[in-house]
Amino acid sequence: MNAIDTAVNHYRALLEAQIERSKRMMDAAPAKDFSKLKTVTIGVIDGDGIGPIITSESTRVLKALLKDELDAGSIVLRPIEGLTIENRKAKGEAIPSDILAEIKTCDVLLKGPTETPKGGTLESANVAMRRALDLYANVRPVAVPEEGIDWIFFRENTEGEYVLGSQGIEIPDTLTMDFKVTTIPGTRRIARAAFEYAKNNGKNYVAIVTKANIMKKTDGMFTAIAHEIAAEYPGIEVEDWYIDIMTAKLVDENIRRKFQVFLLPNLYGDIITDEAAQLQGGVGTAGSANIGDQYAMFEAIHGSAPRMIETGRGAFANPASILRAAAMLLRHIARADAAAKLDKALDAAGDKPREMTASDYADKVIGLIG
Ligand code: IPM
Ligand code: MG
Repeated sequence: MNAIDTAVNHYRALLEAQIERSKRMMDAAPAKDFSKLKTVTIGVIDGDGIGPIITSESTRVLKALLKDELDAGSIVLRPIEGLTIENRKAKGEAIPSDILAEIKTCDVLLKGPTETPKGGTLESANVAMRRALDLYANVRPVAVPEEGIDWIFFRENTEGEYVLGSQGIEIPDTLTMDFKVTTIPGTRRIARAAFEYAKNNGKNYVAIVTKANIMKKTDGMFTAIAHEIAAEYPGIEVEDWYIDIMTAKLVDENIRRKFQVFLLPNLYGDIITDEAAQLQGGVGTAGSANIGDQYAMFEAIHGSAPRMIETGRGAFANPASILRAAAMLLRHIARADAAAKLDKALDAAGDKPREMTASDYADKVIGLIG
């Protein structure tokens, strides 16, 4: 078979699988109601690089914060071992199947950063987990109160450039082609999540951010569906923005204050949330939620920082980001009071000085929880 026929067959199989995925989304079960669960199991995954350091410090904070519920058994912290780059490489699986099975025994996950190999065939553990648990909403808040910044990003987390990111086409010595996929149910559910959040949290402005002038099919449909959903929320102002100008406006002090909720496809969301986190003090300060209807995973927005380990500075890693993620986790499992306590302690603790260890910072936070 020649290279074109091989590629066309591959493309047909991808198309069929994506149509199947789209159908499955339409038949999805209703979302889990955490306020009705007798026990909520939180799986804790270390990850790579600075991951084990910041997750163990945040586990210490959670044990202090949730002491009564942990004693009563209404919350269980379950460590999940082995989601390391070494083990993933050895098994040739983004998430080894035994670990995925363990993950699925939990309701929610707190996860340290996992290393993503460049090139090769091993897929990012994050991307694999988002897909395996159908974590379609990547929710990332960014706040700089003194600058009037109070933003929350709803990044579509299971489609776009990511869903087939490891399944592109190559015509040897000639060209390569990747795919971007946008489905109707996939867009509906992330748009619904953004507008529901806006409605329930007193927000009245949603920016839909795409590049629909260029990505006409995918971003064009994303925009159209987002407006269909928006029509159900008449009190909320909606504006279309292109991603390029939006990256500029995030640093425009005259305009950025008006932004509240952002709704955007996967890759744009990936890029712009790093920019936004930087405005808040760096990617080490921001938490990230990956939310689906049955599972949810909460993590630091940053990577595993292998350079910090190589240069012997691992102990100085900043656990603030994963602690912010832990607060989001608590809110998600209907523990709003504990979440508020943690956020308040983190606000009071302030930024971690460069020469303070993760452990000393965690002690400070625990002290402030009282
Ligand atoms: C993120 C990260 C991931 C992504 C990587 C680690 C795969 O950058 O969560 O933003 O690209 O989504
Ligand atoms: Mg990113």
